[in-house]
Amino acid sequence: MNDWIRDVFQGRPGWMNALLVFCGWMAFVYMPWDIFWKPVEADQEVWFGILFTGWAAKVMALPHWFVYGAAVYGFRRRRPWMRTWGAAYAAQVAFGMFVWTVVSVGGFLGFVGGLIAGVPFGLIAWGLYSAEEQFAPRLATLAERYGEWALVTGASAGIGAEFARALAREGVSLVLTARREERLRALADELEKQWSVATRTVAVDLSSPDGAARLADAVRDLEIGILVNNAGAGYAGRVDKQETERLERMVTLNCQSPLVLASRLTPGMVERGRGAVIFTGSAAGHQPIPYHAVYAATKAFDLFLGEALFVELRARGVDVLVLEPGPVQTEFQDAADEISHGGEPPEEVVRVALENLGGPPSVIPGWFNWARANFAQRIGTRPLTAYVARGFMEPRTPEEMK
Ligand SMILES: NC(=O)c1ccc[n+]([C@@H]2O[C@H](COP(=O)([O-])OP(=O)(O)OC[C@H]3O[C@@H](n4cnc5c(N)ncnc54)[C@H](OP(=O)(O)O)[C@@H]3O)[C@@H](O)[C@H]2O)c1
Repeated sequence: MNDWIRDVFQGRPGWMNALLVFCGWMAFVYMPWDIFWKPVEADQEVWFGILFTGWAAKVMALPHWFVYGAAVYGFRRRRPWMRTWGAAYAAQVAFGMFVWTVVSVGGFLGFVGGLIAGVPFGLIAWGLYSAEEQFAPRLATLAERYGEWALVTGASAGIGAEFARALAREGVSLVLTARREERLRALADELEKQWSVATRTVAVDLSSPDGAARLADAVRDLEIGILVNNAGAGYAGRVDKQETERLERMVTLNCQSPLVLASRLTPGMVERGRGAVIFTGSAAGHQPIPYHAVYAATKAFDLFLGEALFVELRARGVDVLVLEPGPVQTEFQDAADEISHGGEPPEEVVRVALENLGGPPSVIPGWFNWARANFAQRIGTRPLTAYVARGFMEPRTPEEMK
């Protein structure tokens, strides 16, 4: 509990934490009480100095609730939009307090009282607007934060290749690994030429039981500061029609190999007091998915593993993040024998991951994927979610595999 509290409040100035606590109180305690329990006849809301009462006040309380809820997120994640947005809201309150007091008290006394009531909120508005650096802190480069070398699995295509490009852009040297060595070599040449980083390629099959251990041996001489556990595969179809051996290899690739690599490489990170581990999970990890049942289960494993390691390792200087994309435009769907159905560009999901590294334990790129995964996890019961997910997956499964 203490660690959690420290996690929530660390790194922000005291005034921002105070606003965070206030907005949290308003969003989770006061506004629900105000909207759902306070008698209608006693309700009052003020917007821009205009007083709303009764049912009008109930309706006008909803945008207030939204504002405080968004502010909790904005202060917690220090989103750049919070600066102007929070300042605008505080300015509106300052204006409202001033007008309200002038009108209700009247005369010179009302004017002075209005200033006394409005100025503190005006100062908050001004303070927020001026705090540009606090909302977009200039972070050290990834190499400075975590170390010179990164290991990216599944770097021969899709999301892994984009991770490698994004890390090289930040000056991080790279171990690139997958089965198709010629592709790894081509990417290594590109990164060396374009970003002057060092590279090493290791061709290995991570679906074989000792693949991850052999890879860890091959980088024993390097201080790996960032581990991107990204290699993975799916396999669409009904379980009685799927090949058992291919399912087993998928579980080794998606679950066992990331675990072995994390287990082998995090001791060095903990010893150095810095490091990062990224798991490419999937939004699929939030729900049972008929016709992708084993894949979804492997991604649930990655999610639970990563989120637990986040808590274990944070205090030791190691950041863990589970990236959970929805559909992405890569070779994944072909490799999984799915009927092609498009998706987000891989650069975008990598951008979201690196932006969130050092922040929350997991991130789902794209609001629609976020909404779908959260429906599955928080609102829908698991059996209901499984039926909904079947509706999504069945049309994407080849006829002969249904
Ligand atoms: N694309 C999506 O819609 C999507 C959505 C959510 C999550 N994800 C996850 O994102 C990760 C990356 O997938 P992607 O979309 O980039 O797919 P991709 O384009 O098919 O790339 C998969 C990568 O994993 C490597 N790989 C596959 N089997 C391997 C094995 N046995 N041993 C070593 N490496 C292996 C592949 O290289 P080689 O073939 O050269 O070995 C390739 O570099 C996976 O974990 C996937 O589950 C993808």
